[in-house]
Amino acid sequence: MIVSAPAKIILSGEHAVIYGYPALAGALSLRLTLLSNKKPPETELTSVSSALQSLQAKVESTIPRGCGLGSSAALSVAIAAAWQGSTKNRDVIAHKAWKLEQEFHGKSSGIDPTTSTFGGLLWYRRETPHLAIKHSLPISELHFAVLHTGKPAESTGDMVHFVAEQRILHRNKVDELFQNIEHCSRQIVDALLSPDPSSLMAAVNENGQYLEELGVVSPSVKSLLAQLRKDGFSCKISGAGGKTHGSGAVFVYTPDTQRYKQLNTLPYTWDLTTLSPQGVQIEERE
Ligand code: MEV
Repeated sequence: MIVSAPAKIILSGEHAVIYGYPALAGALSLRLTLLSNKKPPETELTSVSSALQSLQAKVESTIPRGCGLGSSAALSVAIAAAWQGSTKNRDVIAHKAWKLEQEFHGKSSGIDPTTSTFGGLLWYRRETPHLAIKHSLPISELHFAVLHTGKPAESTGDMVHFVAEQRILHRNKVDELFQNIEHCSRQIVDALLSPDPSSLMAAVNENGQYLEELGVVSPSVKSLLAQLRKDGFSCKISGAGGKTHGSGAVFVYTPDTQRYKQLNTLPYTWDLTTLSPQGVQIEERE
C-alpha cells in the first residue's frame, strides 16, 4: 500500500485555534509518502512508532521536518489511512490522526491532521475536546511564497507550552490577542472568497504582528518580516513559530507576482506555490 498525505500552511489563527478560536489552513503540494506491504493488524492504533513497526513502513517525504508545515501531522494522517485501508471515511482518519498527534504535543487542536486529511482550504474550529467543526472552502487561485527561515530550536510542543504559560501569566493580554487574531481570520477568509483579495495584505500583516506580540517569533525573523513589509509584501509566520533562531515557514503574499523575485536577495530559500485540493490518498494497492 502506498499512502500519501500533504503538508499544510496556516493562513490565520495558529495558537488561538487551540483555545477554541477559528483558523484557516490549506494543503500544499509537498507530500509525505508511506510505503507498506503489510496488512494493518486488527488492533487499535496507539502510537506512531508502534504503527510504523507493525506496518513495516518506509516513509519518504518532501515536507521539511519541524518547520511549521505539518510534517508530523502528515505522518499521522498517512498512518491512520493505512490502518483504515481506505480513505472513504475521512472524518475517522482525521480523528485517529489527531489522537496520534497528541503524542507530538499534548494540546493539538487537530487543525494540522484535519487539513492534511481533507486537503484544500479549511475553516476550522475546535468547539469542545470531542467536537471540531470544519468547513471546506473553494480554493482561490492564490499564489504565495513559503519562505524557510530555518528549523526553530523549539518544537511545536515547546511553543504550545510557552503560549499556555503566557496565558496563565497574562490572561487578559493573550485573550485579547486571540480575539484580534480571530478578527484577522474572518477578514482573511472574506478576502479569499471575494473577487478582489486586496484586503488580504493588511489582515495577513496584522495577524503576523499579533503572533509577534504573542512571543512566538524570534528577533531575527521579526526584523526579516518588518523588512518584507517595508518592501511591499504581506507576511506572517505559519505554524507554531520559534523564539530563539529560526521560526520555521513564513507565509508571504503580494498580488504583484513579479515582486516575488525580490525574495532571491534574501539569505533564505523560498518556494512560490498555491494551495492543493488533494488530501490523503491511497495511491496503489497490490
Ligand atoms: C501548529 O501548526 C498549529 C498550532 O496552533 C498547534 C495546533 O493547533 O495544534 C500551534
